[in-house]
Amino acid sequence: MHCTKKISDDLTWVGANDRRLAMFEGVYSVPNGVSYNSYLLNDEKTVLFDTVDKAVQHRFLENLCEALGNRKLDYLIVQHMEPDHSAALLDLFNRYPDMKIVCNAKTHEFIKQFYDVNIDARVHIVKEGDTLNTGKHTLHFVMAPMVHWPEVMVTYDSTDKILFSADAFGCFGALNGALFADEVDFARDYMDEARRYYSNIVGKYGKQVEALLEKASAIEINMICPLHGFVWRKKLQDIISKYQLWSSYMPEENGVMIAYASVYGNTENAAEILASRLRDKGVKTVMFDVSVTPASEIVAAAFKWSHLVFASTTYNAGIFVTMEALISDLVAHNIQNRTVAIIENGSWAATSGELIREKLGNCKNIMFIDNILSIKSGLKTPQLLQIDLMAEALTASLSASPDTIANSPADSNVINPNAMFKLSYGLFVLTAKEGNKDNGCIINTVMQITASPIKISIAVNKANFTHDMIVNTKEFNVSVLTESAPFAVFEKFGFHSGKDTDKFAGYDSHTCAANGIRYLTSNVNAVISAKVSETFDCGSHTMFIADVTMSTVLSDEPSVTYQYYFDNIKPKPQLQKGAQKGFVCKICGYVYEGDVLPKDFICPLCKHGADDFSALK
Ligand code: FEO
Repeated sequence: MHCTKKISDDLTWVGANDRRLAMFEGVYSVPNGVSYNSYLLNDEKTVLFDTVDKAVQHRFLENLCEALGNRKLDYLIVQHMEPDHSAALLDLFNRYPDMKIVCNAKTHEFIKQFYDVNIDARVHIVKEGDTLNTGKHTLHFVMAPMVHWPEVMVTYDSTDKILFSADAFGCFGALNGALFADEVDFARDYMDEARRYYSNIVGKYGKQVEALLEKASAIEINMICPLHGFVWRKKLQDIISKYQLWSSYMPEENGVMIAYASVYGNTENAAEILASRLRDKGVKTVMFDVSVTPASEIVAAAFKWSHLVFASTTYNAGIFVTMEALISDLVAHNIQNRTVAIIENGSWAATSGELIREKLGNCKNIMFIDNILSIKSGLKTPQLLQIDLMAEALTASLSASPDTIANSPADSNVINPNAMFKLSYGLFVLTAKEGNKDNGCIINTVMQITASPIKISIAVNKANFTHDMIVNTKEFNVSVLTESAPFAVFEKFGFHSGKDTDKFAGYDSHTCAANGIRYLTSNVNAVISAKVSETFDCGSHTMFIADVTMSTVLSDEPSVTYQYYFDNIKPKPQLQKGAQKGFVCKICGYVYEGDVLPKDFICPLCKHGADDFSALK
């Protein structure tokens, strides 16, 4: 009997679940099953987005027939040719003789590789930017190579603003009656599986995922329909922000993941003592026996935690088998930006430590903690000091790490009050988002007003485009600039108007907070997200009073003060040769030449008034 789910008036989920599969792709355990999603669009033309795995083909066909009613299928869009989504392709090809297969050239090639049948006359090849009108709906095709295979493309329905995202934003786990992520406690019950899915399936292809996210950021999306797991129709930023983080290989949490391989328990013993010492110092720890826990879970944990410890016995003059497989897996999945400590064990010729260091040394931005701790058969009392030293080195490294809450902006309820201590009479990048437009400007007044709940005030010049965006959206982020901020940052965000420029174009050091608004990730020591509760008209400026919704500390670098900016960052203004007298804008450095500065003069660059000018000597 069919079991379909209505998504919108025109769209129906016709996929199916498999709870009997032991190993997805023959590698990844799926104790909670997996869903294969397929979607039918009932427009003037009928359009199916992908099919399913052969294990659930029967139920899928029942679902499709029911959702089609007495209509025929006009189009099958093949976004991903991997057989877990294309197993029913041939069946549909024979069942619906008028059906056209919509795919790109690479997919066409793959179809011919997988099936010994001539489909050429019924293939409609699309490329980046092509569209297909099906009546009420217009479908836009966007190539997403290597998210997860080279032929992958996604489809955007600009009528209902739905992104059919192929493998992206997918999740392990069967759908247990609920189709939408907002019907379950996704953060509590499914985020770990979403991370395991991401890190193991597409974790290797961070750059390609970033490219897709960049394309997606340019369109308005109301719903995401992936090929596995839940459909996202609310709080899309919860999953998008995780993808932004995971694709950058930055850790989500500060803490230590310890993975150990132990034959007779002695290496495990050393790992446990280290974990205990770390906990004594208040450090979060998780532990895995690599011979027991599936590698996919440990890979996912390595994507989550900032510091990794590998403890392995030596085996056949090399790394113990299960640890060797794990290390190879991590290297294959491009693990980056982690701090690593190593413990080795060997009764007569310990080699595993150096070999682990060698393999991980090939990954980008891996920092190793001092020496490898080498055990001969079992830990002896004098070596407890070495364990203590390793725990101390890890703890010191952790306290020097940026607060990774900032890297986990989906934790929208996390407010770190220490971020308020970064506020001074300084300079800040104020950012806002309205529709698809991201913008930012420089401001110099951010103050904490109350501590419980935390409220801040900002004053923003009405001439700034960001001002108008905040009036309309009532949300903003403040990035607290540090003394290392180059003049270029002030030029970029302070000297042009967002009305006619994209402030983020060509500027890479930014990402989104949980509220979907961008913030700067370089030359910044704290970020604050806030929602406006009151506004006060102050003539040239508006004062916004706002409730802090997220705040985090990014570094210990000093905040830039107004004075520091003028003394050390801003180039010294100079009169043109021949000019006698002038006035300089203290905000942006614009020089007005003349004996008298008109009282109503407005700086043409930053729009500040005559009060912000001083006479040039
Ligand atoms: Fe679910 Fe890459 O296939």
